[in-house]
Amino acid sequence: MPNARPKGQTDLPRNKNEDDITAEVLARFSATPDPRLRRIMLSLISHLHAFVKEVELTEAEWFQAIEILTEAGKMCSDKRQEFILFSDTLGVSMVVDLIDHRKPDGATESTVFGPFHRLGAPEMPAGGNIAHRDTSGVPTLVSGRVLDLDGRPVAGALLDVWQTQTNGLYDAQDEQPDALHMRGKFRSDAEGCYLIRTVLPVNYPIPSDGPVGAMLKATGRHPWRPAHIHFVVSADGYEPVTTHIFDRTDPYLASDAVFAVKDSLVCDFVRHEAPEPAASRLGIAAPYLTASFDFRLTPAAAAQAGVMDAQRRLAALGNR
Ligand code: BEZ
Ligand code: FE
Repeated sequence: MPNARPKGQTDLPRNKNEDDITAEVLARFSATPDPRLRRIMLSLISHLHAFVKEVELTEAEWFQAIEILTEAGKMCSDKRQEFILFSDTLGVSMVVDLIDHRKPDGATESTVFGPFHRLGAPEMPAGGNIAHRDTSGVPTLVSGRVLDLDGRPVAGALLDVWQTQTNGLYDAQDEQPDALHMRGKFRSDAEGCYLIRTVLPVNYPIPSDGPVGAMLKATGRHPWRPAHIHFVVSADGYEPVTTHIFDRTDPYLASDAVFAVKDSLVCDFVRHEAPEPAASRLGIAAPYLTASFDFRLTPAAAAQAGVMDAQRRLAALGNR
């Protein structure tokens, strides 16, 4: 019994084995006054210690982890959030999303928020073009309705939309990082209808020039996300939904780097070789594509930290 304590010294923190340390750390946190924080800290320590013991982490590996986290911190700015990328690529963001946004049947499902939302997207009329600087993409009209769970129209809903350019980059990653592009805010009309002009979304790799990219490479994973358009849809009296619509033909649907694809969010982008009225009215020449997607919102529960708060928190991360 190499770790046995001398008689009479059982209360002294000496000659500890791994399990003694775990027990002592848990005891030290057990007086945390806030019950939720206590639960989180005790569970975190239990799992973290169990993980270290299970894999028998070496000191060199522990130091490598510290270096990776240090590097991740250094990469963060108002244009880059490496910790959200870690959370997304480890699947944690989607687990949190599934737990925190349980929806009744028929409601539009949510998915990851991602790190590229920006506040201040311009308000646009129906048919407004979010892709006005993108000259190489295929013109695309996205339309549909915002409805409640009984299929009634929700008028005046706000649709906050963002997407990469055809070069696969978000505005903040491109040449003029401060100029907003591929973003817009639209309102549903009295029938709940909305109409957005954009370009066909493309698949793109998440930023992989930092520690997250190194992790993906070392573990044999690719960094690609299937083509999608981001939405936050909100309306008074309803829960806001943060989601994407995905292109059904995308080869990365089954291996999204951030695990965010849900069947109900996959839709058809239909190619048109001849102009039709909606496109002609907006001066769009063939070929172009259309996609149709209805959002179904759930009634608001009691007041809680909402999606709009999450947007502001993300925006603030870079400004501390
Ligand atoms: C995005 O779709 O914008 C995104 C989501 C998670 C990680 C990186 C990018
Ligand atoms: Fe995206």
